[in-house]
Amino acid sequence: MILCFSGTGNSLYAARLIAGETGDELVSLNEIMKSGAPAVFDSERPYVIAAPTHGWRLPAAVEQLLRRAKLSGSDEMYFFMTCGSEAGNAAKYCRALCEDIGKQYMGLGYAVMPENYLAMFPTPGPDEAERIIERAEPGILAAAREIAAGRPLQDPKAGALDRFKSGPVNAAFRALFIKDGKFRALDSCIGCGKCARLCPVNDIVLKDGRPRWLGQCIHCMACIGACPAQAIEYGKASVGRPRYYIDRLYSERKH
Ligand SMILES: Cc1cc2nc3c(=O)[nH]c(=O)nc-3n(C[C@H](O)[C@H](O)[C@H](O)COP(=O)(O)O)c2cc1C
Ligand code: SF4
Ligand code: SF4
Repeated sequence: MILCFSGTGNSLYAARLIAGETGDELVSLNEIMKSGAPAVFDSERPYVIAAPTHGWRLPAAVEQLLRRAKLSGSDEMYFFMTCGSEAGNAAKYCRALCEDIGKQYMGLGYAVMPENYLAMFPTPGPDEAERIIERAEPGILAAAREIAAGRPLQDPKAGALDRFKSGPVNAAFRALFIKDGKFRALDSCIGCGKCARLCPVNDIVLKDGRPRWLGQCIHCMACIGACPAQAIEYGKASVGRPRYYIDRLYSERKH
């Protein structure tokens, strides 16, 4: 069973490719987070966690959900992470998570996909984003074949700098940066509510037709990436940067 969390669609894209090879059921962790439904899963096949890299590790919200989840059936757990450039030493923490929840760690695969962290880094325009996705596909499929065959995935190599980033830098990043105070809606907002519908943690409500952020944000970038009017900014960091949301990339290409 593939349990997928995805902010802007990259990890979902990878999860769908993996499911195509393994035949596994694909379950959205976004929906479970959003609905507050109990995280109860049963799978005879190994679990595969597909998620983005946030601060060189799994997003904190995904770690928390897995720690409180009931995961019956298979004892084995794989991880497949997408990232903008590197997953750091994420594998160490996925292994530790498995130990804590009583699963056998089966390794971590990762793919470099388009950067979505508008709040901090430059994001690619549509042409570059498509090229990055094309380049990522063979690696995702290769990992999927290993998973389908029941073989462990090889963890990415991690040096001292990776350990530093996934360790103390991640802790500071989670504490200091994952905040929503800098989000704002522009006058071009059309009040469609898409940002609120997509938010996996219900951090957005519409008031007088405009989004308001409630302080529970996990920085998934769905709202700012998917807004059809490009009417959300994050402080000054996002100004003038392309918005990235994979569904929009492909739907705009069709027209
Ligand atoms: C809060 C946040 C933190 C991120 N941290 C990293 C990182 O540590 N390393 C990296 O290469 N990319 C990082 N990224 C980029 C994403 O991991 C990457 O774009 C990913 O494919 C997005 O997947 P999604 O569309 O499934 O959410 C970060 C993105 C966000 C929003
Ligand atoms: S998605 Fe964009 S246009 Fe729609 S309500 Fe949110 S900010 Fe406004
Ligand atoms: S407010 Fe936006 S960035 Fe924050 S969790 Fe919700 S959709 Fe993601």
